[in-house]
Amino acid sequence: MGQKNIVTCIDAGSEYCPCYLAENNECITCSHLQGKSFCDCNWSGVCIYQEFSWCGNMKKNPRETIESKIIEKKQFGENVFVFKFHVSKTLARQLKQPGSYIFVRDMEKPLYFDVPMSIMYADEQRGEIHIAVQILGVKTKALLDCQEKMFIKGPYWNGLIGLKDLKGTEDKDVLVVGRGIALAPAMLAVEYLLHHHNRITFVIDPGKTGSAFIEDYFNGLEMDKVYLNLRTEEGLKQLSHLFRQKSYSLVYSGGSDLLHQSLKDLIAKSDENIKLVATNNHEICCGEGVCGSCTAHTINGKRIKMCKAQVDVEEIIERGNIHG
Ligand code: FES
Repeated sequence: MGQKNIVTCIDAGSEYCPCYLAENNECITCSHLQGKSFCDCNWSGVCIYQEFSWCGNMKKNPRETIESKIIEKKQFGENVFVFKFHVSKTLARQLKQPGSYIFVRDMEKPLYFDVPMSIMYADEQRGEIHIAVQILGVKTKALLDCQEKMFIKGPYWNGLIGLKDLKGTEDKDVLVVGRGIALAPAMLAVEYLLHHHNRITFVIDPGKTGSAFIEDYFNGLEMDKVYLNLRTEEGLKQLSHLFRQKSYSLVYSGGSDLLHQSLKDLIAKSDENIKLVATNNHEICCGEGVCGSCTAHTINGKRIKMCKAQVDVEEIIERGNIHG
């Protein structure tokens, strides 16, 4: 994020800004819309307060739940399913950015069955998005009954912390590490990084899910692939060895808090200015900054809503606030 202690909102300047938070003096970015009488937003090209005024002191229309046709549902191993959906080309384009996710729900189930799922692949030409679901609990089990259609709501974008560093990386060596079901969101990041002429070493830890569900997506992509079991000491040793082999500018951590912490420790030991981007593992419930289930605290004790806020990734890890 460059400067420390800066919290920005992933939705700022999008068609969903200003939102409910602005109407309630809780805007993540705009000090006026936090009830203060001064302007202190680290101007990023959009005045949320002005937008709010233009909208008659009201929020813009929030994201809507839509019915989406299931093009394909395919099982991998015991408990992973890949769902392919038909969506509008606009939505597919909006969901191409690293960190994108949607809420999905069986159409027979009530609202509280909404569950966030990372986008693994988006094709704006065909109007198609793919997600990988690990069947774990009540909400994901309910998705197994869906044959023809599903409710989806999106686009949401805050699935990664440290997005600005990822987006600012061009023509560099990047280490991408993904474990289990978190290999799915790594694919959008990998595509983005390759598009920006980066050279990727992709460490794949199949974890409990296996990696068969993403093989079709990364086959053919030009990068070095290494399979490791990062739950073992040997695996971590090999990761450390790999890490020292190149002068990486960015490390992507896709997995649990433990993985984030291991990679952060490697970076700290290296004494290099290596940026870290990590999957956002906080409990996302409403995705709109309203319910509070994703609340975390930065090093300085600032309360932030992790469904919307982008912070320097170290600020969260140091508090042990990235969940797995
Ligand atoms: S998920 Fe509800 S406030 Fe963040």
